[in-house]
Amino acid sequence: MDKDKDNVRIGIFDSGIGGITVLKEILDLIPCADMIYLGDSARLPYGTKSSKTIIRYSLQCADFLMSKGIDMLVVACNTASSHALPFLKEAFHIPIIGVVESGSQAAIDAGGRRIGVIGTPSTIKSGSYDKALHALKPDVQVFSKACPLFVPLVEEGWCEDSITEQVARRYLDDILQSEVDTLLLGCTHYPLLKGIIAKVMGSGVRIIDSARSTAHVVSGLIGENSSRKHDQSIDYFLSDLSPVFIRLGELFLGKRMEHVYEVDLCYNDSNINSECGNAV
Ligand code: DGL
Repeated sequence: MDKDKDNVRIGIFDSGIGGITVLKEILDLIPCADMIYLGDSARLPYGTKSSKTIIRYSLQCADFLMSKGIDMLVVACNTASSHALPFLKEAFHIPIIGVVESGSQAAIDAGGRRIGVIGTPSTIKSGSYDKALHALKPDVQVFSKACPLFVPLVEEGWCEDSITEQVARRYLDDILQSEVDTLLLGCTHYPLLKGIIAKVMGSGVRIIDSARSTAHVVSGLIGENSSRKHDQSIDYFLSDLSPVFIRLGELFLGKRMEHVYEVDLCYNDSNINSECGNAV
C-alpha cells in the first residue's frame, strides 16, 4: 500500500448492512480515505451458513471490491473474518484486516483474563476468537456463546426493548455465571445492543467492541494519511437494494446513505472458480 497517496481507497464488506458499524468507526478516525462499502444483502445472513459457503461468498465480495481499485480490504463481518480470512489473504495481495484479531487484541490490551465472546452460530462454532485470544495470551480463559436472535432483534429496531433485554439475560446467563471480566462483541450488530448488554453484564465487566478496535488498526496502517483532510467519497454497493436495507443502513450510520448502488455478485469469475448458489 502506498502510504504517501493522498487518498487511500478502502474496501469494506459485510454480509449485509451491519458492517456499517465498522465503517462508521473508520469514518470517525480517518477523515481522508475514500470508502467503498459492499453489503451482500441478497445472501445474508452468513452467520448460520457453512464454512464453505461463507468462504465462497467472501471471495466474491473481495473480488468485486478489488475490481474497484482498493488499496486495503476490511472484512467487517465477524462470520466472514472467522472463516475466510486466510483464503482472502492467499487470493488478494493487499493489506487485509479482519475484525477477529483486532477485537481480540483490544480485549487483551484492556487487561482481559476471563473473556466472554458472543457472536453468530458460525462465528462461535469456528472457535476463531478462542484461537486468536489464546495466540495472544495462552493462559486466558474464554467463554463463548452464540446469540442468534440478536441480529433479527437489531434489524427489527428493538435495540432498547424489554423483550431484547429478556433475550439478552437468557443468552448471557452462562457467561455471567463464569464471572468474566471482559465481554467481546463478536458481531457487527451487537454494538447497537451495547446499552442492554452492559446493563445485563453489570458495571464490573468491560465491553469490547471489535468495530472500534478494527478502525484503530486501519488508522494505524494508513499512518499520517489518516489525519489528512480532503473530500472523502463513500460509495455503497448492496447485492439487494430493498428499502429495508437503506432504512437499516441509515439507522446504523446515524445519517443518510448517499451514492447507493445495486450489484450482482453472482457473476462468473474464473479467478475464484466459484458458482453462485445456495449453501451446501
Ligand atoms: N455480519 C454478521 C457478523 O458480524 C452478522 C449478520 C449475519 O449473520 O450475516 O457475524
